[in-house]
Amino acid sequence: MTTTLKTITVIGAGGKMGMRISANFQNSRYQVFYCENSPHAQMQVQAQGREISDADSVVRHSDVVILAVPDIALGAVSTAIVPKMKAGAVLLTLDPAAAYANLIAQRADIKYAVAHPCHPSVFLDRYTKEEHADAFGGVAAVQHVAASYEQGSDADRAELAKVVSVMYGPVEQVHWVTVKQLAYLEPTLVETVACMVGSFMKEALDETVKSCGVPEEAAKAMLYGHIQIALAVAFRSTNPFSDACMIAMEYGREKIIKEDWKQIFDEKELDIVIARMLKIDAIKR
Ligand SMILES: NC(=O)c1ccc[n+]([C@@H]2O[C@H](COP(=O)([O-])OP(=O)(O)OC[C@H]3O[C@@H](n4cnc5c(N)ncnc54)[C@H](O)[C@@H]3O)[C@@H](O)[C@H]2O)c1
Repeated sequence: MTTTLKTITVIGAGGKMGMRISANFQNSRYQVFYCENSPHAQMQVQAQGREISDADSVVRHSDVVILAVPDIALGAVSTAIVPKMKAGAVLLTLDPAAAYANLIAQRADIKYAVAHPCHPSVFLDRYTKEEHADAFGGVAAVQHVAASYEQGSDADRAELAKVVSVMYGPVEQVHWVTVKQLAYLEPTLVETVACMVGSFMKEALDETVKSCGVPEEAAKAMLYGHIQIALAVAFRSTNPFSDACMIAMEYGREKIIKEDWKQIFDEKELDIVIARMLKIDAIKR
């Protein structure tokens, strides 16, 4: 039977994600309790008009407990929190790494879910200043969410989607995948590849200015416009790359990309990168 989710506890409410999701919960129809350990972060929570609760008192009443704590702390924090949860409640984490690595404390009578924001798409139609300013999502620009709730029924997922859509709102769609698929999305697809390429482009920009003497404003103007057109052509086929551009792209591939780069999609490599992120020797199976 699907439980209607009404009461939520946010553990780590004064951290980066804790503050973002709490701001969205604050005016929602959910009853939400905010727990935070660090005195400085507690002050940030209170400054926004949210009271600090004691986890021992509120976790046992909560339908959903959200662990918004650093991934490397999830093993210890879940070991402390999970025994206090009521049977049938959902433990929600915000990143798949610790769940994939089997670091989260287990109990047969609670359910486990992960929900990660996709962030607003580079192709999103933005109309207002607020939408343009909202790069991260969760404020004004619409985003999707990638989530995993493998133990849940369709009805359970629909109920949890409501919670996730409030905490990361405005949300257009929640995509349900497995924990392993979520781990292939992040870190592999979006951090190992997309964020790495983003910071690589910044390095190339700096090098163009520093080593080749190109005026910075000219280099930025040329790069920012070409990032836009490269994405539009590659992902949307708005128009073809020119013949000369394709030759330059092929040269770039030969010089920059390793032939065996697709090994990042091997399960063994997924285990390696996640173990490295969690600062553990190896993934627990
Ligand atoms: N930061 C991001 O951009 C981002 C984006 C998506 C998902 N996430 C995920 O969100 C989660 C939280 O990351 P973050 O960047 O917000 O972390 P953070 O370090 O900014 O905040 C964590 C907060 O948890 C508090 N905390 C730690 N242990 C606690 C405990 N036992 N009880 C109460 N409070 C405790 C800390 O004092 C801190 O305020 C992680 O799983 C991360 O992968 C982060």
